[in-house]
Amino acid sequence: MQQVQGVVARAKGAPVELVTVNVPDPGPGEAVVKVQACGVCHTDLHYREGGINDEFPFLLGHEAAGVVEAVGPDVTGVAPGDFVVLNWRAVCGECRACKRGDLHYCFNTHNATQRMTLEDGTELSPALGIGAFIEKTLVAAGQCTKVDPSARPAAVGLLGCGVMAGIGAAINTGAVTRGRSVAVIGCGGVGVAAVAGSALAGASPIIAVDIDPQKLEAATRLGATHTVDSSRVDPVAEIKRICAETYAGADGADVVVEAVGRPETWQQAFYARDLAGTVVLVGVPTPDMKVPDLPLIDVFGRGGSLKSSWYGDCLPSRDFPMLVDLYQQGRLDLDAFVTEEIGIGDIEAAFDKMHHGAVLRSVVVL
Ligand SMILES: NC(=O)c1ccc[n+]([C@@H]2O[C@H](COP(=O)([O-])OP(=O)(O)OC[C@H]3O[C@@H](n4cnc5c(N)ncnc54)[C@H](O)[C@@H]3O)[C@@H](O)[C@H]2O)c1
Ligand SMILES: [Zn+2]
Ligand SMILES: [Zn+2]
Repeated sequence: MQQVQGVVARAKGAPVELVTVNVPDPGPGEAVVKVQACGVCHTDLHYREGGINDEFPFLLGHEAAGVVEAVGPDVTGVAPGDFVVLNWRAVCGECRACKRGDLHYCFNTHNATQRMTLEDGTELSPALGIGAFIEKTLVAAGQCTKVDPSARPAAVGLLGCGVMAGIGAAINTGAVTRGRSVAVIGCGGVGVAAVAGSALAGASPIIAVDIDPQKLEAATRLGATHTVDSSRVDPVAEIKRICAETYAGADGADVVVEAVGRPETWQQAFYARDLAGTVVLVGVPTPDMKVPDLPLIDVFGRGGSLKSSWYGDCLPSRDFPMLVDLYQQGRLDLDAFVTEEIGIGDIEAAFDKMHHGAVLRSVVVL
């Protein structure tokens, strides 16, 4: 067991604290990873606000890269010294979803069996089964995905959650490809990644929608062909107008990605897609949210599909090395997502900045 400093949310809404955490030595199937970088995702804030569940105290942080320090006795997939991006989809290979070939839906993903604790022995709930705002973390070995060790940790660590969720929402869940129009509502780290994924896939137009002009600038840098400030204009009418400019007769976008997680923006997505189009919900709603007054005939009459996207329907072992290669080749600008590098004591300030625009991702560098 070792003692290191980690960022913990003790109670609903209370500011996070940097405290001493006990990290067990890795047992069977486990690995201890020295964290080099970890991005601040909106989901960390959801945890702190009690929006995910009530299993406080949480060890926050979950989009991270680092170096494997030690592995349990039976671990063969990774070894000490390996550079890895941590994932929250270590597939089991045995559940109903895995057996029918839908590994990205695995119902029984692996996390470490042992728990990290506070000094008094209180067990911590690691965010998304990771917990990476900490010097060293204990995970299941399958949560470590080896990637090119010459890549920048602060950039490729973001593939561990938000950037993968966004890219995958577009290209995996939404099946975006060349010849398709895309609109992305909400252009934080996740939404802008959906824009970047759509650009990688060759889609056009790619319409970025946000209420914050700074986010729209970032979306343009990563491949948006049009931007819509939905605090000023009706985004549904504007998306329909832009799509009809490119494709005569289009009545909306082929794929609309909702990356906010609110009923009103999901409803915008629903009505901004073309007939037989696809809505992808990647934003995470809180348990109290409901979609009011959606006529069932509109669900039926517009055809197409209404999907949700957990983690961009990714398979880490397939998608992380591929996206790191595209980054290393200069074809996917992951550096553009890293707005600032911060210290492990700066998480609360990073949460504040989430609400005030300028930041796509604050990344803790250790
Ligand atoms: N499904 C997944 O696997 C997955 C993974 C990671 C994050 N998420 C979720 O994705 C969502 C976005 O995460 P993020 O880290 O990008 O958050 P973020 O806070 O960085 O971005 C949210 C964006 O939405 C914009 N926004 C807010 N209200 C809006 C409105 N009414 N209309 C248009 N835009 C609006 C904000 O200006 C901001 O740019 C969160 O709900 C997060 O929990 C989901
Ligand atoms: Zn499984
Ligand atoms: Zn996340």
